[in-house]
Amino acid sequence: MTAQLASKPAEEIALGVHWIGAFDPDLRTFDLILKTANGTTYNAYLVEGAEGVAVIDTVKEEFSNQFFARLEAVTSYDRIRAVVLNHLELDHAGALPELMRRAPQAHIYVSQRGLKLLQATLKDALESYRYTLTDDGDQLDLGGRTLRFVHTPYLHWPETKCTFLVEERILFSCDVFGAHFCDGRFYNDLVGDFRFSFEYYFKHIMRPFKKWVLSAMDKLEPLAPLMIAPSHGPILRHRPMDYIRSYRLLSGSHLPNEVAGKEKSLLIFYMSAYGATADMARSVYEGASAVEGVRVSLYDLQGGEVDPFVDLIEEADGLIFGSPTINGDAVKPIWDLLASLVAIETRGKVGAAFGSYGWSGEAVPMIEDRLRGLKMRVPEKGKRIKFHPTEQELDDCRDYGQSIAELLAGKAKPKVIDFASL
Ligand code: FEO
Repeated sequence: MTAQLASKPAEEIALGVHWIGAFDPDLRTFDLILKTANGTTYNAYLVEGAEGVAVIDTVKEEFSNQFFARLEAVTSYDRIRAVVLNHLELDHAGALPELMRRAPQAHIYVSQRGLKLLQATLKDALESYRYTLTDDGDQLDLGGRTLRFVHTPYLHWPETKCTFLVEERILFSCDVFGAHFCDGRFYNDLVGDFRFSFEYYFKHIMRPFKKWVLSAMDKLEPLAPLMIAPSHGPILRHRPMDYIRSYRLLSGSHLPNEVAGKEKSLLIFYMSAYGATADMARSVYEGASAVEGVRVSLYDLQGGEVDPFVDLIEEADGLIFGSPTINGDAVKPIWDLLASLVAIETRGKVGAAFGSYGWSGEAVPMIEDRLRGLKMRVPEKGKRIKFHPTEQELDDCRDYGQSIAELLAGKAKPKVIDFASL
């Protein structure tokens, strides 16, 4: 099958518009984090106008042979007038250095934010090529065919853009609307059922940028594309607008809204070895629950798998993690949960940590560092208690929980800074 796919010719997806990408059916893990049960494709396209040809994106370097063979079958290098780079990640820009060696006269079009990546890709050779840094809405006239650049920042890198072929209303959307799904039948109405791959891809690539996805859909929807040609997976010619609606739905809430509109949601997760951190957790919970306007939930990770909590966390306003220190570290389920948060937006949420310890108590500051790494606010110093907490220490935990909840509810009292603690 691999050889069969590799030898497939370029596909004319519209008159004078060709798919010239590459098939990678044997890939099982993409970018170290995404699984793909039947490989992927690196889709690149060629648009022919009366005044020259534009190549839109390239492929991963190892698949250059497929790309160049398909390109050569439909045009010659001296006819390439423009190379449009929607995204500079190497699965799309891997063949760019060789393409520019073969078509040095081509003019490169890249978004302003893409310049540093373009320099890193072409190194010193960039000086010998011509390039234009595009603004949102800029157009390129190929002679009877117009390419309009639609910037879609953070879908999923800051420099990402889409390219719209105005006359045929084809949207070359790069990673947006992509799926790691390799099927030589090309089109969404002909390939196998790829719904799982489409949603899985969104969840792992686009989900952390939901706010940006919604802004991008506001730009793309009015274009009313008749075909969406992404850079991975099937070309969406049947009901393309459904995929825009799908991105809107996937960017909405995953949960029925149990937490009332003005209420804040505070989640407390903990693990306990000897019951001390569990006692602290209950006290933090009691203190936080006393604050009006904050819905507080308490979860012992010994009784739960990590993945289902990710949806809850995405919609929470505050997160508190409790872990004992074992062998100088927080315990694994806490790290597993914290590691899974890369798939969602955590910037600006309030974070806090607590835990019991025996010797050195590294777990709490380590968790706090991770929370800061996730761009969360950590407004209070974490609460650490040696061995089992006393009644007084449990009262301190209640105060700690209350203080975090008050901050969420906008009722925080002004702090007196103790210079001795600085
Ligand atoms: Fe398919 Fe972000 O590269």
